[in-house]
This record gives sequence, structure tokens and C-alpha cells, in this order.
Amino acid sequence: MNYFVTTSIPYVNGPPHLGHAMEFVMADVLARAARADGTPVLFSTGTDEHGGKIAQKAADSKQTPKVFVDNMSKEFQDLAKQLNISNDRFVRTTDKAHQQRAQIIWKNLEKDIYKGKYVGLYCTGCEAFVTDVVAKENKDICPHHNKPYEKLQEENYFFKLTKYAPQIQRAIESGSFQVIPATRKHEITNLIKDGLEDISVSRPTEKAGWGIAVPGDTSQVMYVWFEALMNYITVLGYPEHEDFKKFWPANVQVVGKDISRFHAAIWPGMLLALGIPLPKMVYVHGFINIDGQKMSKSLGNSVTPKEIIKKYGTDALRYYLLRHIPSYGDGDFSWQRMHDAYNNELANELGNAVQRTAAMIIQFQKGIIGNIPPAEHDIAQYQSALEECRFDRALDEVWEQVRGLNQYIDEQKPWEINKRGEAEHLRDVLAYQTSCLLEIAGLLQPFLPETATQIRYVFEEGIVRPIKDTLFPKHDTHPGATKR
Ligand code: MSP
Repeated sequence: MNYFVTTSIPYVNGPPHLGHAMEFVMADVLARAARADGTPVLFSTGTDEHGGKIAQKAADSKQTPKVFVDNMSKEFQDLAKQLNISNDRFVRTTDKAHQQRAQIIWKNLEKDIYKGKYVGLYCTGCEAFVTDVVAKENKDICPHHNKPYEKLQEENYFFKLTKYAPQIQRAIESGSFQVIPATRKHEITNLIKDGLEDISVSRPTEKAGWGIAVPGDTSQVMYVWFEALMNYITVLGYPEHEDFKKFWPANVQVVGKDISRFHAAIWPGMLLALGIPLPKMVYVHGFINIDGQKMSKSLGNSVTPKEIIKKYGTDALRYYLLRHIPSYGDGDFSWQRMHDAYNNELANELGNAVQRTAAMIIQFQKGIIGNIPPAEHDIAQYQSALEECRFDRALDEVWEQVRGLNQYIDEQKPWEINKRGEAEHLRDVLAYQTSCLLEIAGLLQPFLPETATQIRYVFEEGIVRPIKDTLFPKHDTHPGATKR
């Protein structure tokens, strides 16, 4: 069984933020966990580079759209590297291959596409057509961008989404197409019950020129969302490439709560129209706020992933995003909480268990561990948490083991066993500690790959190999203490 996991592809209208970082990291955990099981994995991420919003940003910064998106996409690729993301592919919607294949997809969808007139509202910030009901609820002002919706009256192409609504509904309800968590599933099924409409899937070229031409009609470019969703199969070489046959349908598509309807209503409609299977699961994560407030340039509260990595390191940021942001809800970042998680959990609990075990083996046994007993903890809960994308719970499970180990050390007091001269007993205790640490390293591998590798390096050869730097050296202060 092969495994295909995707993130959404972020817009390149601004530099990457913590929300993007979290999504990359979550998908990375799934990819790494599947690889550790020996499954062939394809993990793709990328950037969404067309549309009016991006064209506008490029114009504002006096760059051509192409130069602008090249620079910005690079920032997302750099972020993936800084976060140690193990993606196999990075798709850009300006890639030739994506453009060509998007046109093939369009042609294959033509039986369900018709020309019509769109009279209604649009938000360029969201790149979304807005229904009258939503507009009314929001009093004609986009709550995300604080701008009045733009009134459009234009010719464009429509996709017959209505035709597929019952099938989408059935797939979600039967669980053949899973949407998790359940709250998100209910939102989507309610949305479909209220009635999906056919959707606009193109814009006039003169209004939204930065896009992929509609095949056979240069007066229209594809609507950016319609085209961006296609990345999940263009990246596999749809329709003819082996990878498409091997890896589609996706196992998990990781997306944020603001874009669940695109992924759980529109995207399945497109797939059904193409006659190809729906993904097995869409996992919808929540939003990160900063110090209890929405991340926003105007509030000036943005904290970049890079700053956090610089201070605490990649694995510490991964840890925070995976454990301290609820996997099924919204969460908060603050320097104080980051600092506490780092010092209390990573340094005092995990780092300390590693450090003292290694130090005692070196001091009392010249570094020789002896026979390491096999791992013995029940990891069923950890595994099911991972299958349900409850990264926070999976890490809680690992931390149960970390705490259990520290408790064991405090109770056994190997230093006293050593004083009493009970060499054999001491060897068993330290070998058991080592076994626990190697088990912990195995469980941490998808989450904190660098840390897990270091722990293995120290212990796995049966003789302690000291590492240069302390794992998670403690910090006295944090940037938030001085800045805010
Ligand atoms: N380009 C579209 C996705 C197209 S996928 C075919 C898009 N881009 S985005 O840059 O606005 O968002 C990318 C991802 O980041 C989305 O999953 C979105 O939910 C997520 N986040 C954006 N802000 C976020 C937070 N504050 N917190 C967590 N994730 C957030 O939508």
C-alpha cells in the first residue's frame, strides 16, 4: 500500500507564517511515520502563485508577477528546509508541467462546464466568490480582509458542482471520504445539505490576467482556486504518469479550517467529474493565534517561524506546533509558552533523561551498556492518535513514557545501586533506561527527527557515544520578555 500526503499550497502574496509552518510540520509527521513503516511514500507541498491578489502584490512591489512569485516561492521552499520537512515534491502552479496538465484536466471536465454570467460578489483577498447569504451575514464586508466585497458582473465558465452534491454527501457520510475532525465533517455536510451551487471557474483575462488560459478561449483564465486544487494530481503527472496510478487517491490531505469547503466540497466534485477516486481523508486543522490575537500585519504581532527556530531550534518549534496547538482546534503561540515548553518539557524532562542516563553509563560502566532489553510499552494509543491526526495526543503518549522513565530513575537511584556495588543490578537498570530511551526515540522520529536521531546515536550501538552539544540546553530568557 502506497501513501500520498499533501499540504495545501500557500499563496505567495506574503512571506510564510506560523500557520504555514504548522501545516507543513503536520503533514511531515504523517509522511515520516508512513515511511518508518516501510510504506512507499510521496509527500507533496508547494506554492499557489496565480490570481489577482498576487498580481496586485507584485505590482505594489514594482516587480513583474514572475519575478515576484519566484522570490516568494523560494521563501516557502526555504521554510520547508528550515523545518526539516521531508517533502518529495514541491509543486509551483507556475510550473510548465502544472500549467499543461491543468489544461488537460480542464478539457476532461468540459462535459460539466458551461458558459454563463456571474453577477455577484467577490473577495480578492480570499480569492473567493461570495454567496448572497454569506454577504448578508457579513454586511457586505469581508471579515477576513475588512474590505467591502467587489461587485462582479462578468461572463465566465461554470462547473456543474450541483450534479455531484448527492454523491459527495454520500461519500462523506459513509466514511469512504473521511473529513476529520467530526465538527468539520458536520460543517461540510450541513453546507452540502443547504445546497451547493454551480461554481464559477474562470475569470475574464483582462480582469484577472495572471492565470492559466482556459483551453480554446484566451479571453478567460481559470479561476485560481479551481486551478490550484488540480495541483494534487498534476504533481503526480495526471493522467498518464506511473506516479498517478501508484499514489492516487491521497491518503491524507492536510488543510486549514478556512479552506475546508474547497477541499471537501469543490475538489471532490472535480474528482467525481474526472471519474477518479476521492482522497481517503481530509484532515482540517485550526488556526494559530499569537498572544491570543489573530496574526496580523497591522497589529504587528507576527512572529516568524525563522525567529523561533533561531532561538529554540527546529525540533523545538515542531514540538510546540504539534503538541501545544490542539490538533483538533485553534491554539495560541506566545514566547512565554514556547519558553516554558522548551525548558520544562524538552530540556528538563526529555533532555535530562537522556543526559543522566548517558552520564551514568559513562561514569559507572565506562560507557558500556550491555544487553538492551526489547521495548515493552503499549503503543496502541499513540498509533491510533497518529491515524486520527491527533498529533497532540500522540505526543502526550510519548511524554507519559518520558515522565515514567524519569520517575523510574528517581525511584531506582542508580547512583545508590552503584555505591552498594551491585554491578549486575546496576547494569540491568541502566540497560532498561536505555531501552526506554530508544523506544521514545522511535516514537519521536516522525515528530522530532533530529532529536530522535541524536538519541539513537548516543545509545544504539550498545556503548554510549557522547554527543557534542547538550540536547536542548536551557534558556534563561526569551524574546517576548524584552520585546513585549
Ligand atoms: N492558496 C490557498 C490554498 C490552495 S490549496 C489548493 C490558501 N493559501 S493560504 O496561504 O492562505 O493558506 C495556506 C494554509 O495555511 C491553509 O491551510 C490555511 O488554513 C493555513 N493558515 C493560514 N493562516 C493560518 C493560521 N493563522 N493558523 C493555521 N493555519 C493557517 O489558502
